[in-house]
Amino acid sequence: MTPSFDLAYLTDLAREAGRIALDWFRHTTVEMKSDATPVTQADKAIERFLTAKLRQAYPDFGILGEEGADLDERARFRWVLDPIDGTNAFAAGLPVWGISIGLMEGARPLAGVVYLPAVDDMFAVDLDGPATLNGHPIHVIEDGPITSESIILSAADAHLRWDIRFPGKVRAFGSCAAHICYVAAGSALAGLNSHTAIWDIAAALPILERAGGRAELFGGGALPLAAAARGQKIPEPILFGSPAYFDAIRGYLLPK
Ligand code: IPD
Ligand code: CA
Ligand code: CA
Repeated sequence: MTPSFDLAYLTDLAREAGRIALDWFRHTTVEMKSDATPVTQADKAIERFLTAKLRQAYPDFGILGEEGADLDERARFRWVLDPIDGTNAFAAGLPVWGISIGLMEGARPLAGVVYLPAVDDMFAVDLDGPATLNGHPIHVIEDGPITSESIILSAADAHLRWDIRFPGKVRAFGSCAAHICYVAAGSALAGLNSHTAIWDIAAALPILERAGGRAELFGGGALPLAAAARGQKIPEPILFGSPAYFDAIRGYLLPK
């Protein structure tokens, strides 16, 4: 069964959510949740906004959100929301954070949008067709040498996990969804994330895959999406980009 939804409606919602976020940006207060991760007024306001709008427009779809939304978990199709992916960066006044709205069928991410309001970058993918950035098709980097100019987008704790021998540049902007999307767009060769939850990747994964990329466990093997869709964090770092580079990148990161 193919779900019926309107990608243009999702991009409009993400832009509206982006305006809510920008209203709070650089004058928000941060609270720590019971899992010791931060949340702001903007995260909560955006999740409430998206939940209300999506519920109204798609009453048969379930909704799972990082800030507590959990409606119809048995529905065949579910919206998986990260109202702000990159809350730590948002709260610090850094510009790389985004609104992520993914559509999943069971444990399978199907489509979605990731919108970065501070730089007005809209990544989107429908049920078919290419992944796009601001309406233009995107593609991962899939050939060419790794040089001192190559970039990987890093998990924030990479310096604690690995002795990193990558000959290029290692950057960490603070949003898993943004990292995956910029890798999908060929701005960086590959990326890594740790402590990954389903809302970090529900929209970004189909964007990556339709741009020719893939995500795997750093240690090898498929992501445990069924467990992630039930709320479990992925227990080891993930690696994303073109599989053509995976072996080389693993070889540059020596476990500490
Ligand atoms: C986090 C960010 C961060 C990533 C973590 C995520 P949040 O999401 O994407 O970059 O490394 O795995 O949990 O808490 O800002 O929504
Ligand atoms: Ca997140
Ligand atoms: Ca979040």
